[in-house]
Amino acid sequence: MRAARYHDYGSADVLAVEDVPEPHAGPGEIRIKVTAASVNPVDWKLRSGAGRAAFPVAFPAIPGRDAAGVVDEVGPDVTGVTVGDRVFGLGGLFGASAEYATLTAWAPVPDPWTLEQAAGAGLAVATAGRGLDALGDLSGRTLLIEAAAGGVGSAAVAMAVARGAVVIGTASEGKHAFLRGLGAVPTTYGEGLAGRVRELAPGGVDLALDAAASGSLADLVAITGSADRVVTVADAARAAELGVRHYYAENDSTVLAEGAALGARGGYAPYLAATYPLDRIAEAHREAELGHTQGKIVVTL
Ligand SMILES: NC(=O)c1ccc[n+]([C@@H]2O[C@H](COP(=O)([O-])OP(=O)(O)OC[C@H]3O[C@@H](n4cnc5c(N)ncnc54)[C@H](OP(=O)(O)O)[C@@H]3O)[C@@H](O)[C@H]2O)c1
Repeated sequence: MRAARYHDYGSADVLAVEDVPEPHAGPGEIRIKVTAASVNPVDWKLRSGAGRAAFPVAFPAIPGRDAAGVVDEVGPDVTGVTVGDRVFGLGGLFGASAEYATLTAWAPVPDPWTLEQAAGAGLAVATAGRGLDALGDLSGRTLLIEAAAGGVGSAAVAMAVARGAVVIGTASEGKHAFLRGLGAVPTTYGEGLAGRVRELAPGGVDLALDAAASGSLADLVAITGSADRVVTVADAARAAELGVRHYYAENDSTVLAEGAALGARGGYAPYLAATYPLDRIAEAHREAELGHTQGKIVVTL
């Protein structure tokens, strides 16, 4: 099968499309014929070697944590899904940017989404859901989301609004209309955030979710009044210093089903900033690495 691969750490230039052996669905897994795979920050952090202390890469590596496509193999012990179903979901840290990929968590693609959009939902929804779950009951709570227009942030806004929160989201001004469309009250990030948020929420901010890793975690603690009221999915190092909880996404089909159900009733439609054919995956990585993606970037197979 065709897959993007790299044989050493480096810039996006190390990515090449090669012929590689197909994976097969093991116990608890399904295999999909991939329509599109997501490009996530973890893909270029692993590829560049920036994450090698915690997550050393076994070469050659196929980048890609999540994808969408059509089920073509169902592994032993798997129920509730059949060959031909359209699904999106998560595999391991690698393997999704390929013609075939195995998944261990998945959900049906809701009717309003294309398969390309669904490819952008897996890790975003799983991460957003993990962070929001940790913040507890959101009904009637005012929640500040840092980096609200990115892949994780935009999923978190939609899910938090659906859970009953009043959401204030940060992004640069050009993305404020996008945030309003998701149901958030937008503001800019950076210096003076506390003052801007105070004007938008005179009654105070109850909770905050950080998806930025921009160095603002201490500000989020000050704005909410306590490290207990803040969760980050992006900044493990500062979280440890400040006593803030940090979470990784889990391969959890239940939270993917929540995202899909929200999509089915029009509450969340993954926004695609760009779609690249697999042959141009290096460009997709370069664009993602700039750190200003609105929604998601995907590669198509
Ligand atoms: N824990 C996990 O399991 C997990 C899973 C997925 C992702 N993550 C991490 O979560 C973070 C977000 O992931 P993602 O996929 O959503 O990334 P992303 O899509 O690349 O995020 C891009 C967004 O970040 C915003 N941004 C850039 N600089 C900012 C700043 N200084 N303050 C606030 N927002 C800023 C940008 O807004 P503007 O363009 O308006 O500047 C843009 O919309 C990354 O650090 C990623 O590594 C963790």
